[in-house]
Amino acid sequence: MGRRVALIGATGQLAYDLRCAWAEHAPEDQLIGLTHAEVEVADLNSGRAILETIRPTLVVNTSAYHKVDVVEENTDRAVAVNAMGPRNLALACRGLDAVLMHMSTDYVFSGRKAAPYVEADPVDPVNVYGVSKAGGGSILSVICCPSTSSSVVAGPMEWPARPVRAATSWN
Ligand SMILES: NC(=O)c1ccc[n+]([C@@H]2O[C@H](COP(=O)([O-])OP(=O)(O)OC[C@H]3O[C@@H](n4cnc5c(N)ncnc54)[C@H](OP(=O)(O)O)[C@@H]3O)[C@@H](O)[C@H]2O)c1
Repeated sequence: MGRRVALIGATGQLAYDLRCAWAEHAPEDQLIGLTHAEVEVADLNSGRAILETIRPTLVVNTSAYHKVDVVEENTDRAVAVNAMGPRNLALACRGLDAVLMHMSTDYVFSGRKAAPYVEADPVDPVNVYGVSKAGGGSILSVICCPSTSSSVVAGPMEWPARPVRAATSWN
């Protein structure tokens, strides 16, 4: 039987690619796209209300406030969406016993490392966007189990992407 999957940020670039990949690799799943008009991730109650209605087993968060130059001037909004947004979704997922898959970014790293980055590398962001995304990852690592790590979308994406374990059971 297929899973019920809520796709947050459904009008975005990654969401489009995920829909295509999902249709090809897991056509039995029911993918429910949620647009920004339907879910405001910065608002705890917004995500929780709609997810309680849908009752997904997996929530994929592709939302982000990420126009780097605009973000630089809007720190509060960046933190609200990119740091508190995943936190809000994780809390909603925990209440539903759903798994949260969250995307990080290469901007959590400065690029000063000589070798290729791996997920376990310590973050060292150099702009507001990177700081806010790193904050989201850190918050998730506290809310979720200690082995949690975000998937970094940088270059060709492996399929299936590695989920963040935001809830207790989905084995
Ligand atoms: N694109 C890249 O090169 C890249 C690289 C590395 C990592 N990433 C990460 O991958 C993920 C997806 O990026 P993307 O390029 O697909 O972004 P995108 O095309 O801008 O899509 C983001 C989606 O999130 C929605 N959204 C924005 N703010 C929201 C909010 N507060 N609440 C709910 N929905 C909101 C947007 O809707 P509206 O447009 O209607 O606001 C849009 O549907 C993000 O986490 C990003 O940090 C992207």
